[in-house]
Amino acid sequence: MAQGWSRNSWRARPAEQLPAYPDAEALAAVEAKLAAYPPLVFAGEARELKRRLADAAAGRAFLLQGGDCAESFAEFGADTIRDTFRVLLQMAVVLTFAAKKPVVKVGRMAGQFAKPRSAPVERVGDLDLPSYKGDIINEDSPTPEARVPDPSRMLQAYLQSAATLNLLRAFAQGGYADLHRVASWNLGFTQGSPEGERYQALAQRISSALDFIDACGVNPGNSAQLKGVSFFTSHEALLLPYEEALARLDSTSGKWIAGSGHMIWIGDRTRQLDGAHVEFCRGVLNPVGLKCGPSLAPDDLLKLIDRLNPENEAGRLTLIVRVGAGKVAQHLPALIRAVEREGRSVVWCCDPMHGNTIKSETGYKTRPFDRVLSEVREFFAIHQAEGTHAGGVHFEMTGKNVTECLGGMHNLAEADLSSRYHTACDPRLNASQALELAFLVAEELEKTAAEPKAEAV
Ligand code: PEP
Ligand code: CO
Repeated sequence: MAQGWSRNSWRARPAEQLPAYPDAEALAAVEAKLAAYPPLVFAGEARELKRRLADAAAGRAFLLQGGDCAESFAEFGADTIRDTFRVLLQMAVVLTFAAKKPVVKVGRMAGQFAKPRSAPVERVGDLDLPSYKGDIINEDSPTPEARVPDPSRMLQAYLQSAATLNLLRAFAQGGYADLHRVASWNLGFTQGSPEGERYQALAQRISSALDFIDACGVNPGNSAQLKGVSFFTSHEALLLPYEEALARLDSTSGKWIAGSGHMIWIGDRTRQLDGAHVEFCRGVLNPVGLKCGPSLAPDDLLKLIDRLNPENEAGRLTLIVRVGAGKVAQHLPALIRAVEREGRSVVWCCDPMHGNTIKSETGYKTRPFDRVLSEVREFFAIHQAEGTHAGGVHFEMTGKNVTECLGGMHNLAEADLSSRYHTACDPRLNASQALELAFLVAEELEKTAAEPKAEAV
């Protein structure tokens, strides 16, 4: 076990972004309940994801991580889960085809509820209200009562995560994700659109290849890789009372695991070296992500790597870089060189969302598609120049036809934002934009397709 660590050692550290629950007894009762509930994931799965991420670190696989900015209680339902899962599958097919490498599929799903906020209060009309911090903490409605942190919301989030994960496991292994159904994943509003047609053409090529290998005797009956996919969950480990309550001792390894999801990450606002979030994450065996924003200095990154991955275990740490379009060349090379100089193994992942959020003239928080794409391209170009691997991408996206990000092939305009702006927090790519982006990332990946590969997963 990590030295001096226990599942509650974070409590002795300064903690940013945690809610102040007014009712300590109610909080303790919820924590005790959650501590007695089953964990949502099993340690063997987290270790398996770590193995696959080790391949991504070495350039033999590619990470696709995506989903809502914040899951919401109101949008909970089978269709929402299916639609996001389906577009992630479509994107993974596009990326696998281009990269000629396995794509590690990780949802921002089944636990992505708690949100860090830039400001503790929010002005609504002529009221100053405590900020909304995600459905697991308080309610979005603009009243003072709704914004009071309520611990019982953790139980609701746990139940929603358990049901979401249950459906995801069923989709991943129960036939829905059989590669022979590749064309049917296109049914929905992307069908008939230019990116939908491009996908359909790809699906036809894959179907012909499947007919060919079927004739050679390889089929879903004898090859598990054709029958289903491995799909993992992830979220920001922000709400530490929840994370602590779901931490479990893994009897196989004698180590602790965050039982709330396969992979957890530390946000850009909570990555203080001696802070509570880094303290909690250093002691659990899960793969851990670290958001790297523009204020992260190379020396501080190395200290965080030492703290979070002292044994330099491959696949343990994913650096999720989110500096903004036009700024990658200014920040990323120094980070890469520091990591390379110290011989540390990391997955380099690009989050082109969080450095590119702007306010539209009509007052909506939005992200221009062009800037998202630019940041991805800059990220690939820097890795190519440094001789390192661009190991993955991290998107905020949904399978629904929302109007939250500007641009893309359908050229979503400022005036369109109001028509279906549903996000509980940051603006997401809709299914068309996400698929279009996957094709554009695929073009970058094709350039590196000659590199070594891992075994198919
Ligand atoms: C997020 O991923 O939703 C988020 C808040 O990111 P960051 O910590 O990078 O700002
Ligand atoms: Co976000």
